[in-house]
Amino acid sequence: MEKLHEKVAIVTGGGSGIGRAIAQRFAREGAYVVIAGRKEQPLQETAASDEKISYVVGDVTKTETIEEIINAVKEKYGRLDILVNNAGWCPVQPITEVTIEDYDQAFDLDVRAVVNLTIHALPLILQSKGTILNLSSTGATHPAANLSMYVGAKAAIENFTKSWAIELAPKGVRVNALAPGAIRTNIWNVTDLSPEAAKAHEDGIAAGIPMGRFGRPEEVANVALFLVSDEASYVSGAVYSITGG
Ligand SMILES: NC(=O)c1ccc[n+]([C@@H]2O[C@H](COP(=O)([O-])OP(=O)(O)OC[C@H]3O[C@@H](n4cnc5c(N)ncnc54)[C@H](OP(=O)(O)O)[C@@H]3O)[C@@H](O)[C@H]2O)c1
Repeated sequence: MEKLHEKVAIVTGGGSGIGRAIAQRFAREGAYVVIAGRKEQPLQETAASDEKISYVVGDVTKTETIEEIINAVKEKYGRLDILVNNAGWCPVQPITEVTIEDYDQAFDLDVRAVVNLTIHALPLILQSKGTILNLSSTGATHPAANLSMYVGAKAAIENFTKSWAIELAPKGVRVNALAPGAIRTNIWNVTDLSPEAAKAHEDGIAAGIPMGRFGRPEEVANVALFLVSDEASYVSGAVYSITGG
């Protein structure tokens, strides 16, 4: 039996990395999945991998895009069971170099867009007694240097997750978060380092992981599937870390 038979899901940032793996895993379990991102080509590639996946091109920091996603779901399926707030960005700068525009850019995507999409999706999620899954990061509770805008944003996401879980539990809606450690995706490619220096940097990070390697997006998707499925029917307000130990 498919674990998400005929469910309808939104996964932001479904054109790459963790979002793509989640969209594909959900579709394999019977869900119809609407993904969103700014670049059409990667969204098209994800959608081409499974006929249950469709996409909306747009910037989720803009309310027009959010309305477009919700309208697409309403028109196509008339219901929504699962919202995965996955799109995110991780600026790498010491606080001595951060500008208020950098802050705005990080918080607009990593926090404001999550709140905005959740507000817009909630009427449908409440109707279906559905579930919400937010992407945090292990950095929210274990901050590292040069990531303050990112880890600050993800700390907000963890508290939103827990607050919303308390408020929505009596209405039958579960809210959880994932806190991945180092997962091999494009998010690690945004760097000014030379290829050699980037490899040395990543090898250093992998050496500090008890399992000795980065995680794969599919390993995050497996936990996402559990959390949105009925198998997790008594799990809400949880933040699951996926860190290789
Ligand atoms: N990889 C890790 O090690 C790691 C660890 C902890 C947490 N996370 C979290 O996991 C989530 C997914 O990241 P990832 O690692 O899979 O990185 P990724 O491959 O870079 O994915 C980020 C996705 O977000 C989309 N996106 C970015 N800005 C957007 C915007 N303004 N509007 C719409 N979509 C936007 C991107 O598509 P477009 O560029 O086409 O818009 C992309 O598909 C993020 O929330 C990240 O913080 C990742």
